[in-house]
Amino acid sequence: METVLKSEMAEKYRDFHPAFGRPGLVTFKCPAIPASFQLFTADSWGVGLGMASSQAEFDNLTAGLEYRSVWGRDRETGFLTEAPVKPTLTKNSPRVLDVIVAPDEPAYIGWHPVTRRFPRAVQAPERAPSRSYRKFAEALQFTRAPFKEGDRVLEFGGSPGGASLAMLENGLSVFSIDPGPMDPSVAAHSKFKQFPEQIAAFQREQFPEKIQWFVVDLGMSPAKALRSLQRYFPPYKRTLKGAFLTLKLNDVGWLKDITTWQRQLREFGLVEQQWGHLPACRQEVFVFGKTKLIGRY
Ligand SMILES: C[S@@+](CC[C@H](N)C(=O)[O-])C[C@H]1O[C@@H](n2cnc3c(N)ncnc32)[C@H](O)[C@@H]1O
Repeated sequence: METVLKSEMAEKYRDFHPAFGRPGLVTFKCPAIPASFQLFTADSWGVGLGMASSQAEFDNLTAGLEYRSVWGRDRETGFLTEAPVKPTLTKNSPRVLDVIVAPDEPAYIGWHPVTRRFPRAVQAPERAPSRSYRKFAEALQFTRAPFKEGDRVLEFGGSPGGASLAMLENGLSVFSIDPGPMDPSVAAHSKFKQFPEQIAAFQREQFPEKIQWFVVDLGMSPAKALRSLQRYFPPYKRTLKGAFLTLKLNDVGWLKDITTWQRQLREFGLVEQQWGHLPACRQEVFVFGKTKLIGRY
């Protein structure tokens, strides 16, 4: 993912130059961060201060700065359970302290404004059939999508069932189109139905009724995925509230197509879109799109 991130940075922010990095963390030297700064290929970002291996180094690095709270990430687990440094917190500070740790390495220290929300990493339970369990759980928490108990989801690319399981555990009914095998815990669930078909071959007469959400996670290029999805939107124009899509970025060159994908999704009815990257995403972008019906529920 770091390669794609560097390409996005080189394309958008030409006066940012790659500096120190380690897996999961990329830093740049730059004159100033523009207020409109936005990335599709990183889930969090801030102002880097440097590395600290001891409390004394930390105090030195952060002298004169105040923080309201601590945000942290552990490269191995995704969670920072205990910060290796102890900041003094100030209630009304506009900054959150960032602490990024990795085994046997000094902590990387930075900060971000309290006004910026990042997606939180979710740990997958052992029962999760795939990484997509985490993706869906993180998306749910980050977007605060107004799901209602009993809402019906049409899923495109569901096997082996990680996202389906997370949806079922959130009280949703799931109709999943994928010829691949589903985990038995999902396949046997009373609110789950699989259509073992290719999405291009799935017949209009078989479309389940009254779908409120689409969840898309197809192992194909975004251009092909969007072409295949187009015919699914019109039949649901009276019920669809929104869609969650994971789009693969297997080719770094596809980043330049994002504006085309945004336009296509708008034409499909997803009038408001939130683009980004979740901690559980790999070389892919995440999109939450809302239709104009979302406010009416
Ligand atoms: C990344 S996996 C999906 C993971 C899944 N969302 C989960 O939660 O475990 C991509 C899936 O897309 C399915 N897929 C790829 N092309 C497809 C097509 N044309 N029609 C239906 N499913 C397709 C594959 O069979 C594969 O299971």
